[in-house]
Amino acid sequence: MVGMAKTKAPKGYSVRPSTRDDLKAIVGIYNWAVNQTFATIDSEPLDAEEAQAWWEAHGKRSLLLVSVDETGVIGWARLLPWKQRGYDVVECLVYVDPVHQGIGIGGALLSELIKEARGLGYLTIVASIATDNRAGLALYTKYGFGEVGTIKNAAHKFDRWMDITLVQRSLD
Ligand SMILES: CC(C)(COP(=O)(O)OP(=O)(O)OC[C@H]1O[C@@H](n2cnc3c(N)ncnc32)[C@H](O)[C@@H]1OP(=O)(O)O)[C@@H](O)C(=O)NCCC(=O)NCCS
Repeated sequence: MVGMAKTKAPKGYSVRPSTRDDLKAIVGIYNWAVNQTFATIDSEPLDAEEAQAWWEAHGKRSLLLVSVDETGVIGWARLLPWKQRGYDVVECLVYVDPVHQGIGIGGALLSELIKEARGLGYLTIVASIATDNRAGLALYTKYGFGEVGTIKNAAHKFDRWMDITLVQRSLD
């Protein structure tokens, strides 16, 4: 995170590394998706203790970015190592406040993550997306991710089974 310049994106918001003060807003955006959508398989909102543990799970090769406007945090994106040690694969997550979706923030966050993942020395970036999450799949496709495969019945949420599609992009 250190050394990353604050980038001014168009449309009155900017992207910067997060600080601990952002955590409440980050978790608010995440918990909305947990409670209202199939975007995440998670069906239980994070409480304050779990949010703190999530924050502390930062490793050396991780990154948490936020997108902010004059009202505060309106989106966030995270890089975290994929699976066990030894893989040169990083996983990414992108969440935008529903009120601010569709104006380029998710794309701005994802392109910043791709750049930063290269800088952290990863070779491949992946994301797991609910197969019926059209917006999520379209976002990753636009940024050059291709489908690896689909795990059928990966999770049960809101009384139905969800499939999860893994996508990847090379960082060469
Ligand atoms: C997916 C998500 C991050 C997109 O963020 P966003 O700020 O709305 O996206 P952008 O406005 O930057 O759009 C970028 C691209 O994403 C795709 N996209 C975004 N919203 C879309 C929608 N409702 N339907 C179809 N494609 C969509 C498009 O390809 C779009 O490019 P285009 O505008 O040139 O068509 C947002 O919908 C979200 O937070 N969803 C809940 C969390 C989630 O599903 N995260 C992804 C899995 S980790």
